[in-house]
Formats: sequence, structure tokens, C-alpha cells
Amino acid sequence: MKVVAVKNFEEMSQFAAAMISYQVKEKPNSVLGLATGGTVVGTYKELIKDHGQNKTSYENIHTVNLDEYLGIEKDHPNSYHHFMMDNLFSHINITKDNIHIPDGLATDYEEESKKYEKVISDLGGVDLQLLGIGVNGHIGFNEPGTPFQSVTHVVELEESTRQANMRFFNSIEEVPTHAITMGISTIMKSKKILLLVSGKTKADILEKVINKDITERIPATVLKNHPDVTIIADEEALSLVDDEKKRGFDRDKKEFTSTYLLSN
Ligand code: PGA
Repeated sequence: MKVVAVKNFEEMSQFAAAMISYQVKEKPNSVLGLATGGTVVGTYKELIKDHGQNKTSYENIHTVNLDEYLGIEKDHPNSYHHFMMDNLFSHINITKDNIHIPDGLATDYEEESKKYEKVISDLGGVDLQLLGIGVNGHIGFNEPGTPFQSVTHVVELEESTRQANMRFFNSIEEVPTHAITMGISTIMKSKKILLLVSGKTKADILEKVINKDITERIPATVLKNHPDVTIIADEEALSLVDDEKKRGFDRDKKEFTSTYLLSN
């Protein structure tokens, strides 16, 4: 696990976009695993800017999104379909048929989950998976306690997740109670993983992910088992992590191999 310590949200977004755009240029038919939420919005803005300025092409890129709420229409303003169209896809030259997001209106969830796993494996797996993290440590919508061997499945959202996402809705009642998400083993099969963490509200969980042992109670700790994970975290998110770790002085090389400080 590498931790890239950056100053703020803007620097995090620039760094993440640079990594994604590098992947797209290196392998123009890459499979990108994409995420939704407040954390990734700046990264998508940077990618749109880069597409405009440098003509980075997404024509042959395939995307698979992590998750979708259950029971809301694709064009509902709070659906993740809508989020992705609004924040990224309608601003770049992606081929519509290459976009994959779980169907939150599927009637047979089991079937939809199997279909989604097949989409990913038929594409040859995810080259680069972008992740945010929940205040409870979830990745995708894999809430605490989700088995590490889980594949795409339907989940009941924790109260803390619904509260955190309420800011996008008018009231807590409107926040869906269930979602369909890639499983933890689906995420772990990605060749590279990029986890973005920003702000004070994530400081507590980031400290746990970095310092605690791997446990299903904190889903993101599973990332320590992956050979190629980069965490890009800003000063506020890293505020509870020891300075010595931030400086790259690592006592436990297995869990935390190196740190780069980009700014003072
Ligand atoms: P956020 O969500 O980026 O809106 O904080 C991240 C997540 O819940 O995974």
C-alpha cells in the first residue's frame, strides 16, 4: 500500500486524474472501475479538462461502476447512472455501449449480480479501480461485516451510510435503503486500485485502515492484501496518522510500504 500525501482536495483530484489519464494513454482499451460520491467529483472535472486540452481519448475505454441504488430510475437525479453521465460521461468521448453500471431496477437481483460479474470477467477484469471510502470503512457499498469473498450482490445500507449520503437528497426517507454493489473479491481482482480520501470526516477511518489489522469489520483493510494499491489522501484526512508514517518511516513494511509527500 502506497500513501500519497497531498495538501488538499484539489491536489488529490489532480494527482488521481493524472494517474487515470496515464492509464488511458498507456492502454487505450483499458477497463476502468469507477466510483461515485463527493470525493471523486474533482477527479472527473480534471479528466474532463484533460480531455478538452490534451484530447485524451476514451473511445475504446470500457467502464464498470462499483454500485447503484436499488429502486430508482436511471434518470433519477440521485441515481449513480445520472451522476456518472452528469459528472463525466456526457463530457468525454466514451462509447455508450462501453459503459456498465449495475441496474438498480432489475427485478431479479441474483440474476443481475451474476450478469454484472460476467460483464467484468468478459472484459478481462478491471485494469484500474477508483475507490472512495465510507466513514464506516466501506468500499463500494460493502458495509462492515461483508465477507471478503463476496461477489456482486445486494446490500442493505447502514444508517451511517444513509446519513452520509443524505446531503444529496431532500430527506433521509428519500435515501434508498438498499443497493447493488461489486463485492469485495470483485474489487480485489482489479489489477490496480486507487483509493481517494479527503477531509476531516474521513480522518478517523483512514487512521484505522492504515494502522489496524485486516478485518471484515473495516472493509477497506482488505486492501492491504492487494499488491498494487495507492491511497491519495489530503492533510485533513491524514491528520490522525503519525507524522513518522507520513514521512515514510514505516515500521511494518508489509502493511504500509512507502509514503510520498507532495507538498508541505
Ligand atoms: P463520498 O462517498 O465520496 O461521498 O464521501 C464515498 C463512499 O461512500 O464510498
